[in-house]
Amino acid sequence: HLADYGISPTRGFLPDQLPLTRLPDPYYNKWEAIVANLQGLILSKRLRAVIDRLPVLSTVGLYHESEWRRAYMLLCFMAHAYIWGGDSPSDRLPPPITVPLLEISEHLELPPVATYAAVCLWNFKPLFMDEDIDNLENLATLCTFTGSLDESWFYLVSVAMEARGAPIIPLMLHAIAAARENDVHTVTQCLTSFAERLDDLTTLLHRMHENCDPHIFYHRIRPFLAGSKNMAEAGLPNGVLYDDGSDSPTWRQYAGGSNAQSSLIQFFDIVLGIEHRPTGEKGPKPDTDGPGPAAQHNFIQEMRRYMPGPHARFLADVQAVANIREFVARHAARHRPLAIAYDACLAMLRALRDKHLAIVTRYIVMPSREAARARSRSPEATRGAVKKVNLATAVKNVRHQPQGIAFDAKSAAAEMEKNGNNASALKGTGGTALMAFLKQARDETGEPAVQEW
Ligand code: HEM
Ligand code: ALA
Repeated sequence: HLADYGISPTRGFLPDQLPLTRLPDPYYNKWEAIVANLQGLILSKRLRAVIDRLPVLSTVGLYHESEWRRAYMLLCFMAHAYIWGGDSPSDRLPPPITVPLLEISEHLELPPVATYAAVCLWNFKPLFMDEDIDNLENLATLCTFTGSLDESWFYLVSVAMEARGAPIIPLMLHAIAAARENDVHTVTQCLTSFAERLDDLTTLLHRMHENCDPHIFYHRIRPFLAGSKNMAEAGLPNGVLYDDGSDSPTWRQYAGGSNAQSSLIQFFDIVLGIEHRPTGEKGPKPDTDGPGPAAQHNFIQEMRRYMPGPHARFLADVQAVANIREFVARHAARHRPLAIAYDACLAMLRALRDKHLAIVTRYIVMPSREAARARSRSPEATRGAVKKVNLATAVKNVRHQPQGIAFDAKSAAAEMEKNGNNASALKGTGGTALMAFLKQARDETGEPAVQEW
C-alpha cells in the first residue's frame, strides 16, 4: 500500500499533507526567525555568531510528521548557511544545530545534511489552494539561501516534476500487476501512457531556463548545496565536525544535495529494468567473484541512503517485484506494440537525461570555464589561484619574469588547464565526476531496448 511508504497516489513522493510554513510551537520561534532572515544574516556575516548563541532546543515539541520535516528543513538550511555562508567554509557545526539535527535525521531516516527532501520535497507551497501543484505557476518555495527567484525556480522545477510524475507510480505498479497476469494489452497501455508522461516531464525540465540564470546558479546558489565528502579542495579535508557538545564529537562526510536523490527518477529506472553501474564500468556486469563491481562505488545506489526511509524502502520493494523488462523480452516477438511502447519509454527517459546533460553543460561546465578564464585575466584574483594550483611553478615564473604577477596570470591559467580544470575534473554537488557519470547514466538508459532503432 502506497501510504505505508509515505507515498501519495496524487502527489507521489511529495507529502500528502502540504509542508508547514512554520512550526506551530512558539518554542521554535528562534529557528523560524533565523531562517526567515537567512539572506540578511548571511550578507551581514552575522549568521554564525547568531547560531552560536542559540540555545540547544529539544525535539520534544515536534509532534506531527510534518513538524519533523519542517524542523529538518530549517536545520539543514541553517547548517549549510553556517558552513558555506562565510568568507571561508566552517568545518564545524555547533551544538544548537547538531544536537537537534542528529535526532531529527534519525527520526526521518535521513542524513543530517541538506538533501533533496530538505530543499525540494518539503520546501514548497501552492500559491492558490484550488490550483494544482504540478503547475509551476502555482508554486512558491518556503526557504532559500539567496532569496533569489533563480534559486526558488531551481527547486520548484523539481517539485513540479515530482507532482507531474506522481501518477506514473500507481500506473506502473498497475503494469507490474498486469504483467504478472500475463495481460499484454494493459502493460502496453501503461507503457504508452508512461512514455507520454516522460515526454511531458522533459518539457517541464526545459523550463529551468526560463527563470534560473546559469551564472547566478553557478556562483551564488550551488555553493550552498555542496556537501562535505571529497571536499578537500573546497576547504573541508576532513569533512565537518558535528560538535554535539560531547567529549567525542565526530567528523562526518556527506554528499551534497542532488536530484540523484529523487526517488521518482530512480523509480522509473527500476520499473523499466534499467541498471546503473559504478561510473567507469563498461558493459553489463561481469560475473566475477570477490570484491568486484559490487564493492565499487555506485553513486545512484548510494543516493538511496539520502532519501526518506520509507521512500528508499519502497524502491527496494519495487525492485524485488519489477518484471516489466523480462515480460517485454518474453512477449516482444509476438506483440510488436508492447516492444514499441517499452522502447519508447527508454527513449523518452534517455531524452530526459539528454536534456539534463544540456542543462549541466550550460549551468556548470560553461560558467566554470568562464570563471577559469576570468581568473587567468585578472592578476589580483589569480594570486589565490596560483597558490592552489602550483606554488612552485608560480614562484619559478615570478623569479624569471621581471613583470612578475602579470605574466604569472597566464602561466597559472595554463597550469590550471594542465591540472585538468576542464569538464572531466568538475564535481557535482553530489560528488560525482559529473559529465562522465551523467553520460554513462544516459547511455545505460537505452541498454535494455528490445529492438535496434
Ligand atoms: C544528477 C546537475 C536539475 C535530475 C545531477 C548531477 C549534476 C546535476 C551535476 C550529478 C550528480 C552530482 O554529483 O550532483 C544539475 C543542474 C541542474 C539540475 C545543474 C539545474 C540547473 C535537475 C532536475 C532534475 C535532475 C530539475 C529533475 C529530474 C537529476 C538526476 C540525477 C542528477 C535524476 C542522477 C543521475 C541520473 O539519474 O541520470 N544533476 N541538475 N536534475 N540530476 Fe540534475
Ligand atoms: N547536483 C547539482 C550540481 O552539481 C545541483 O550542481
